[in-house]
Amino acid sequence: MTPPLLSVRDLRISFNSLSGPFDAVRGVSFDLGREKLGIVGESGSGKSMTGRAIMRLTPHAATVHAERLQLGDLNLLNAPEKTMEHIRGKRIGLIMQDPKFSLNPVVSVGEQVAEAYRIHTKGSAAEARSKAVAMLDAVRIRDPERVYRMYPHEMSGGMGQRIMIAMMLVSEPEILIADEATSALDVTVRLEILNLLDEMVSKRGLGLIFISHDLNLVRHFCDRVLIMYRGHVVEELKAGDLDQAAHPYTRGLLEAMPRIHAPRRRLPVLKRDPTW
Ligand SMILES: Nc1ncnc2c1ncn2[C@@H]1O[C@H](COP(=O)(O)OP(=O)(O)OP(=O)(O)O)[C@@H](O)[C@H]1O
Ligand SMILES: [Mg+2]
Repeated sequence: MTPPLLSVRDLRISFNSLSGPFDAVRGVSFDLGREKLGIVGESGSGKSMTGRAIMRLTPHAATVHAERLQLGDLNLLNAPEKTMEHIRGKRIGLIMQDPKFSLNPVVSVGEQVAEAYRIHTKGSAAEARSKAVAMLDAVRIRDPERVYRMYPHEMSGGMGQRIMIAMMLVSEPEILIADEATSALDVTVRLEILNLLDEMVSKRGLGLIFISHDLNLVRHFCDRVLIMYRGHVVEELKAGDLDQAAHPYTRGLLEAMPRIHAPRRRLPVLKRDPTW
């Protein structure tokens, strides 16, 4: 068996609050290969924190512990900050949930994509520019030459998301963590972006962590799914096997989804058990 690209064991993240420590992530473990791994779970279940911990970008107030956080032969837990700067963007890309906060407001969006290419590949300015334009085109930005010169405040939410995707893909990382990366896109553009990501996985062997609220989307797009609830993984399934989910939380999520061919008068309310 080929070794995983990324291996996470017993990841724990806690915050100190006035009322004592709060455990945001409570022992998450998984391996990532050259595949599309979905992470679903309700708001606050620790999905983004898990993604950020892999990049060592958790808030200062957070305490992170793990038995293992391994990228190939590199131990991310004790890698020096200098090494992490090389890892971020080049080996692991992270598309944050709100792209507007991640873009520099005073640099044109095209230059930011070109800069991401130059930092990580040391290519010439002209090469970076043409790569950036091609990448903007690949994420379905219309008139990429014009948009190249525009600034983040001139972008719509969906354009901002696509700029971030372009910025993260242009340096061809081994792993991409997409945190609600397509949530602001309309259905047709979303499909095209998902196709692009899919191509990156199947042709280039990218390992994709796809964080989403949307169980239906994840079920159709991903190969494997982790279901998170209150900071831990309650169930892990092949996407095609979701219907056979055993955990009551996953079953509750599935039950709570409307079905076009079997409409119901009322959708059931998900009952949560404090022991989960
Ligand atoms: N800076 C912080 N200080 C204290 N608690 C925090 C901080 N940032 C996040 N948390 C807590 O960590 C938990 C997990 O947050 P996280 O952002 O990972 O959730 P999520 O699953 O990504 O949710 P969403 O679907 O809403 O994005 C939440 O309960 C949140 O309140
Ligand atoms: Mg989140």
